[in-house]
Amino acid sequence: MTFGARALIRLGALKHNLSVIRDAAPGAKVMAVVKANAYGHGLETVAASLGDADAFAVARLPEAIRLHESGIDKPIVLLAGAMSNAELGDALQRGFELVVHCTEQLEQLEAAGQSRAVVWLKFDTGMNRLGFAPEQAPELIERVRHCRAVGELRLMSHLASADELDDPMTRQQLGHFREIADGFDGAVSIANAPGALGWPELRGTGETLGTTGDHWIRPGIALYGISPFPGRTGADLGLIPVMQFEARLIAVKPLREGARVGYKGRYRAQKDSMLGIISAGYGDGYTRHFRTGTPVLINGRRVPLVGLVSMDLMAVDLGAFANDKVGDIVTLWGKGLPVEEVAPWADAIPYELVCGVMNREASEVVD
Ligand SMILES: Cc1ncc(COP(=O)(O)O)c(C=O)c1O
Repeated sequence: MTFGARALIRLGALKHNLSVIRDAAPGAKVMAVVKANAYGHGLETVAASLGDADAFAVARLPEAIRLHESGIDKPIVLLAGAMSNAELGDALQRGFELVVHCTEQLEQLEAAGQSRAVVWLKFDTGMNRLGFAPEQAPELIERVRHCRAVGELRLMSHLASADELDDPMTRQQLGHFREIADGFDGAVSIANAPGALGWPELRGTGETLGTTGDHWIRPGIALYGISPFPGRTGADLGLIPVMQFEARLIAVKPLREGARVGYKGRYRAQKDSMLGIISAGYGDGYTRHFRTGTPVLINGRRVPLVGLVSMDLMAVDLGAFANDKVGDIVTLWGKGLPVEEVAPWADAIPYELVCGVMNREASEVVD
C-alpha cells in the first residue's frame, strides 16, 4: 500500500451484492447501473466482474464508449439518451440502447437511418425530471414504432422517493406507470435499488406491471454494498461494502491543552492528548464538509476528526494513551465503519461520498 489515500475494491463483495439483489427480485432482469465511474468504484473493473448482470447502464456516451472499448459484450444503456445527432450516430453504430425522454431526441431518432436499436421511451410519472407526460404514451409509442432506426421499443420511468418507505409517491408513480404499460407487449423498467429492495410490487415479472414483456430493475447503490434507505446500513440488507477507503497515519505527536489545530485553528484542544495526522484530504475525495467529531477507524477503534480537512491531510485526536504508529492503516469508510454512518457528518449521502473518491493513488482491486 502507498502512503496516500486509496480505495480498495472488493470484487467478491460486488458479486455477492448482485446475487442478493437478484434473490430479492427473482422475476426481474438486472441492468447494473455503473454511471459516474461505477459510483467511484472504477467503471471497467466493476463491469468486468459483474458478468451475471443482464445489461449495464451509464449516464453519458463517453462512459458507454469506455465500457464498449473495454470489451463488455452485454447491452449498454444510455440513461439520458443521445444529446446530439453526432452522439446518436455513434450510439447506433456501437449498438447502445437509448433512452428517449424528450421531443428533440425523438425527432432525431425519426430522422435516423435504418438500424435495429433498442429504445427505452421514458415517461415522467411524477419526479419531474426527465421523461414525457404519461398522457402522450399512445401517440409516442406509435411514433417510435414507426422509426426505421428502432428494432425494439421498451418503456421506463424513474422513482423519486422509493427510499422513503412511507411516502405515498412511489405507489402514485407506479399507478401512472401501470396505466402506460397496461397491454404493452414489450419490456418495462421503473425500479432503482430502493424500488427493487423496498417495494414488493417491483420484485416480480412484467405481469405485475401490466406487460407481457420482461421486467427490468436498475440497481445502482446496493451493488456497491450501500443501503439506499436512510437509517439502515448495507449489512442490514445482507450487502457487503465494496469500497474500503483507507489512508495511513503519517505523523503522531503530542497535542497540548488549548492548542489550535489545522487551517484557521478551528479546533482547540480541551485537554492534553496525542494528535494523529492522516494522509487523506479533500484532494482524495474526503470532503472538507466533514466536521470535527467525524469517526475514522484506527487499530480497531473510532477516533474523531479534529479541525478542517485540508487537501492531502487531516488530523484526528488519538487520545492521551494512544499507541498508534506512523504507517498504521486508517479506514475512512468501509468494513467496520459504514459509509452510511459517516455521511451525515458531512451532511452528505453515501452516494456522493463514494462518487467523489478521486483515486489519486491507483485503487487496488481484491477478490
Ligand atoms: C435512471 C436511473 N435509474 C437507476 C438509477 C440507480 O439508482 P440507485 O443507485 O438508487 O439504485 C439511477 C441513479 O441515479 C438513475 O438515474
